[in-house]
Amino acid sequence: MKFFIDTANLAQIEEAQALGVLDGVTTNPSLMAKEGITGKNNILKHYVDICNLVDGDVSAEVNAVDYEGMIKEGEELADLHDQIVVKLPLTKEGIMACKYFSDKGIKTNVTLVFSAGQALLAAKAGATYVSPFIGRLDDVSTDGLALIEDIRLIFDNYGYETEILAASVRHTMHIINCAKIGADVITGPLSAIAGLLKHPLTDIGLAQFIADFEKGNK
Ligand code: G3P
Repeated sequence: MKFFIDTANLAQIEEAQALGVLDGVTTNPSLMAKEGITGKNNILKHYVDICNLVDGDVSAEVNAVDYEGMIKEGEELADLHDQIVVKLPLTKEGIMACKYFSDKGIKTNVTLVFSAGQALLAAKAGATYVSPFIGRLDDVSTDGLALIEDIRLIFDNYGYETEILAASVRHTMHIINCAKIGADVITGPLSAIAGLLKHPLTDIGLAQFIADFEKGNK
């Protein structure tokens, strides 16, 4: 299973990279705005900075909603760095743009996926990744993990190579359950990834080992 971090914060990306388990980064316009990154040149430079910090795929989202605009913006993003994955919304225009980029061998991430039918369309359009938002479904009392199960079944039925990128992951149990279901990738905040480290029995056990070692080596 791949771990992506869902942020545009360079310090957090560096921290996750230093842990040695990071496979890539996802961003979106809200995450860029949260870091105060505005204006085309600053945004493009920030994507390059992110690519230079990590080894894996870096999803960069188009802001255009029309087909021509998505193609122009996506080509500009793809030209920035070979780690860039063009992130497109699950709209009619986004699916058409996904097909355009996949035909050209440019990686894509189709985002804002909330149904199995939408995921199937993205796979048929050749998406590299499809991003179902599990946390946002949970927020409206709909089982986000059930959607991951449905998409896994459908993709396996037909051998689609599109990777299921479970997005809007909020906590450790989302990650563990996605791993049980067989999501290919999760993207979440550093807190969810680092949260996997924690267990009180590990802390208690380590404190005991240290105390016993110190007793015997005085
Ligand atoms: O990867 C999609 C993600 O950014 C959405 O997460 O927490 O805003 O629902 P969230």
